[in-house]
Amino acid sequence: MIDKATVDAIIEAAKIEDVVGEFVNLKRRGVNLIGLCPFHNEKTPSFTVSTTKNIAKCFGCGKGGTPVQFLMEHENLTFPEALRYLARKYNIEIQEKEFSVEERMAQQMQESLHLVNQYAVDFYRQQLFQTSEGKSVGLSYFKERGFNEQTIKKFDLGFAPTTPDAFTKSATKAGYQIDLLKKLGLTSQYDQDFFKERVMFTIHNLSGKPIAFAGRTLKKDKKVPKYINSPETDVYIKNKVLYGLCFAKQAIRKEEECILVEGYTDVISLSQAGVENVVASSGTSLTVGQIQLIKRYTQNIKIIYDGDTAGIKAALRGLDLVLEQDMNVKIVLLPDGEDPDSYIQKVGATQFRQYVQEEAKDFIFFKINLLLEDAANDPIKKSLLIKDIIETVSKIPDNIKRSVYVKQCSDLMEIEEVVLHSEVNRLLSKAHQKSKPQEATRTAVPAKLRREGQEASPATHEFQERDIVRLLITGGDAIFKKEKEVSTKNKTVAQFILDNIEDVIENFDDSLYKLVVKETRQRLKNGELVDGNFFLYHDNPAIRQLALDLTSSQYEISPGWEEREIFLNTQKMPDQNFTNDSEQGVKRFKLHKIMRMCAENQKRIQAEADTDKLMTLLKVQQKLLTIRNGLAKELNTVILD
Ligand code: UTP
Ligand code: MN
Repeated sequence: MIDKATVDAIIEAAKIEDVVGEFVNLKRRGVNLIGLCPFHNEKTPSFTVSTTKNIAKCFGCGKGGTPVQFLMEHENLTFPEALRYLARKYNIEIQEKEFSVEERMAQQMQESLHLVNQYAVDFYRQQLFQTSEGKSVGLSYFKERGFNEQTIKKFDLGFAPTTPDAFTKSATKAGYQIDLLKKLGLTSQYDQDFFKERVMFTIHNLSGKPIAFAGRTLKKDKKVPKYINSPETDVYIKNKVLYGLCFAKQAIRKEEECILVEGYTDVISLSQAGVENVVASSGTSLTVGQIQLIKRYTQNIKIIYDGDTAGIKAALRGLDLVLEQDMNVKIVLLPDGEDPDSYIQKVGATQFRQYVQEEAKDFIFFKINLLLEDAANDPIKKSLLIKDIIETVSKIPDNIKRSVYVKQCSDLMEIEEVVLHSEVNRLLSKAHQKSKPQEATRTAVPAKLRREGQEASPATHEFQERDIVRLLITGGDAIFKKEKEVSTKNKTVAQFILDNIEDVIENFDDSLYKLVVKETRQRLKNGELVDGNFFLYHDNPAIRQLALDLTSSQYEISPGWEEREIFLNTQKMPDQNFTNDSEQGVKRFKLHKIMRMCAENQKRIQAEADTDKLMTLLKVQQKLLTIRNGLAKELNTVILD
């Protein structure tokens, strides 16, 4: 753990142009530096580095951020890793914070689990290579399957003998606690070995440490499970692990593609043959956690599944999930009865690569062809199929990519493009409404534009709310001071805003904006300053992105934002009169909330039959209208009833 003072020193020292400059060729343009975005493909540069704000942002894809955020995304680093990187770069010595007792114990437990697993790896390997049962049963099986010794060692393959407690005895004798063996699932509650008479596959974490095992039976008996696996533990969380990733990660980066297969043996065979950018989901269907692991290295996935129907179904199941994560997906089906392992062993690497190259189908064509065959001349089936495909397409987060797919679908399915577009939009708006409360990420596009083409939600106060949040993020720590007014107390803009909207915080429509306001309130209560860095370095990625969008938005010009050639990077920054802005902003915000209250009250008045109650409501209405008119006057806004 790095102590707070050092974190601050590192953040203080890190210069955005130095950090980005290591990866992107930057040229000066006006007050900014500009280069080709490292996060997406483009021909004209939109990656803008602001040295004054110490942030970078792509006006094409919206990515960027502080030096730390840039490193986290570009180099796939965690927050502490990015800090360490910068500390090295700027020669800042890191003071490690003392671990708490709990932290130390948790860490020791993890280390012990890794140690026990490493002992197990060594044990199973020794059994495989040095015992007569291991050699005659296990090793000969692996050799028969075409795995050479180098591969067997690289993947930590092994053999669990028939003796029911061989491992448990050996491990306890070597001093390992039986509780730990049980915790890892290596030993049963009756002190017997969990893996017996099986060939062993070691599952590694990203850094290559053994975290779990799978044992394959050599019996043909259908009643014996083919593979058995370690249970989940603190070091093995199944849906966050991909088999083979620690060996494949470099090749995935280099090839700019990840090949996804189903089985352990598929990974091993492909890797041995030189197709090294391969991982397996290990029989389970793909999870979001697993896709995010892949996404650290590439956006391109090629799924190679068995040609049988189970394989096809499995491929389709994972698909929507992959698309939601904005990955490019191709699918390859192997000839009937083959899996990647058997096929590459049969035809060799060259022919395998060629087959994969030729047969790789974009997911959408794959899905359409598959389903069209099925629907043939059945109109009902066909309309269901179209719905199904459109649903899949609507999962693609990238607008442009999604449009391209809509066009291709329209050609393939012989349906007018507009019809498909409107269906996609309907689904998007549905999904948007569903996900709104826990909206996780935001794009660079202003929310108003982002929601274009979707069903507008009734009278949201998006702009007013966004403006309040913009002021908090970009000028929260500025001093609120009116000209010619001698103020005895120095108030910050954040304090002014919070004092004035305290009573309506719960009325924020947008949950993310509300969160920012609430966090500001909390921080002010603790007597802390609220500045841009607080949000730009926030733990919550959605808040970081929002802070980035708002901080850099003065470089955008909103009306013509689509024609990306014309961001006026040379445009003068607007005057930052935070005092004035925050007064106006608060008034506009309150005006809109009051207007909504008026409208709601008006409805109640119309529905009320009881005279006494009606009188009260009318009085309330009178009050609301007075406030409304006062605010409107101050804002020079004419209200038309
Ligand atoms: P397969 O049955 O296709 O096995 O299961 P395989 O990998 O081709 O193995 P070989 O070639 O027959 O030796 C694919 C994957 O599904 C998981 C395993 O991860 C396996 O690699 N699986 C399968 C299980 O976890 N348990 C099982 O009983 C079967
Ligand atoms: Mn197989």
